[in-house]
Amino acid sequence: MERYFDASWRRTMYCGTPRLEDAGKKAVLNGWLRCRRDLGGIIFIELWDKTGVTQIVFNPELNADAHERAGALRSEYVLAVKGTLRKRPEGTENPELATGEVELMVEDFIVLAPSKLPPFELDNADEVNEDLRMKYRYLDIRRDSMQKNLKTRHDVTRYTRNYFADNGFIEIETPMLTKSTPEGARDYLVPSRVNPGCFYALPQSPQLFKQLLMVGGCDRYMQIAKCFRDEDLRADRQPEFTQLDLEMSFITEEDIMTLVENYLAGLFKEINGVEVKTPFLRMTWDEAMNKYGIDKPDMRIPMEMVSLEEVFRDGENPFAQLVANGGTIKGLRLPGGATLSRKELSELEGRAKSLGAKGMANFLVKEGELKGPLVKFLSEEQLAKLRELSAIENGDALFIMADESWRKACEILGQIRLELGRARGMVEAGFRFLWVTEFPLFEWDDESGRYTAVHHPFTAPMDEDVEHLLTEPGKVRSRAYDVVLNGTELGGGSIRIHNPEMQQLAFRALNFTPEAAKERFGFLLEGLSYGTPPHGGLAIGLDRLVMLMTGSKSIRDVMAFPKNQKAQCPMTEAPSEVEPKQLEELSIKVVEPLA
Ligand code: AMO
Repeated sequence: MERYFDASWRRTMYCGTPRLEDAGKKAVLNGWLRCRRDLGGIIFIELWDKTGVTQIVFNPELNADAHERAGALRSEYVLAVKGTLRKRPEGTENPELATGEVELMVEDFIVLAPSKLPPFELDNADEVNEDLRMKYRYLDIRRDSMQKNLKTRHDVTRYTRNYFADNGFIEIETPMLTKSTPEGARDYLVPSRVNPGCFYALPQSPQLFKQLLMVGGCDRYMQIAKCFRDEDLRADRQPEFTQLDLEMSFITEEDIMTLVENYLAGLFKEINGVEVKTPFLRMTWDEAMNKYGIDKPDMRIPMEMVSLEEVFRDGENPFAQLVANGGTIKGLRLPGGATLSRKELSELEGRAKSLGAKGMANFLVKEGELKGPLVKFLSEEQLAKLRELSAIENGDALFIMADESWRKACEILGQIRLELGRARGMVEAGFRFLWVTEFPLFEWDDESGRYTAVHHPFTAPMDEDVEHLLTEPGKVRSRAYDVVLNGTELGGGSIRIHNPEMQQLAFRALNFTPEAAKERFGFLLEGLSYGTPPHGGLAIGLDRLVMLMTGSKSIRDVMAFPKNQKAQCPMTEAPSEVEPKQLEELSIKVVEPLA
């Protein structure tokens, strides 16, 4: 007679909970068959659920029928198992399992559902092609590491909502079907059936809505918000991702930074049990670029770049002219680098060239003496200056990057710093936060031949730089700040422009005609003119935050259903073609259907 799941088969405990003190108790467990061993007539399986596994023993002497039926059980079958927990025999304990001192002696069981043979072994899924894991994501999720990541994500959002509620924020939802906002990526567009030829854009962020909520007097807004950006994907970028989004009125940078520091310190204490020191280190963009060659420095790598123009300014050396013309010379000291072989040095130079450098010279200090191709061009004083500025000591190497472009010299040597730091195991443990401030407001974009906003066009300029807004836009610094963790940009925000004239001016500097500005952002300009409080905010990438907290390699590992590198979902096969009728209703004609 077929037996079904009824109350008598409902679990009395989770698979991860039995302990030694439970030995002797009756128990019912529900879960999935994870691994199975047939040993001398006795069958052992591990029964899994989200809390862990318990070893289950089918002994023919206890129930011959159950033992016989157990022979047909396969991986990932769903079972309800009844029996008595007992202490495992001496020597068979498994110290790696929380339940490893006990096992359940089966008295009876039923199969609640069979399973097809899984396309990959769940225990070794980390080595499996990721697209396959995504195609069968429900199986991938049925693994301890994914369960742990999803649970941590939940704990993070719960902590977050409580923290901000306790600080006077309310969560307000903003629309998904909206108008294009300029965060710098392409929009995902959604056609409107009732407005033929018109499209909504999915929000790249709730930026404009949260500012208008400040106009609306909401004072402190937060949202765990879905955002959509059609951009090149990487380990820390998905087309659809989640932000912890904030906005506050009547505040300065200091208020937001302190609030966010306390939030992050509390969160890491609660979830990771680590003490994060506040206030975080603060650094201007200029300093970050000069010392680390990047706007998101990884402070775990104890190496800094130095400026060496002074050394090469005078005399007959290959860089004197470059310095005279305003070029840049950066140096990077590699502690212990003097032991690098000629081949390794040349490979490093090759890498620098592949990043766009013309070359990368080096100095080595061996037996107290400076060696290297440039030594012969420099005077004793210049060499002394070099040692002083770079702080190189015996056994060190010093790499030199010279370029007409300050930015290029900094960025290339900064990348070498990162790669050397990682390759030589110099990355220190722990969570190293910092704020990067005073970003340029605009940067020149060669492709479009105009300035674009480094953050977004609603970011306020620094008061002392406003005068250059139209004359030298590239010189204007912004009131933006990024929070960086271990070399990842965790979040970014700014004090906003709250006066419509200034906002118009910013649009002008970005080469928007008044008509274009009105067409795209008219509602914002209009809103700003009805009594807008000074305001500012920030958004933290929630996926990135949880990725770093769980030590995951990619944000895909902390999302239940991510997209692959081609922005596809291998499980649902989205995006996909649609019925001709659907297109017709939307007044859309596909010019070149997919082959
Ligand atoms: P920004 O564009 O800097 O700012 O985004 C804020 C944070 O969101 C995360 N993020 C992403 N995470 C995963 N995949 C992506 N494609 C992706 N793009 C961004 C990053 C980033 O730091 N409206 C402003 C915020 C503000 O000014 O308040 C904004 O969206 O962690």
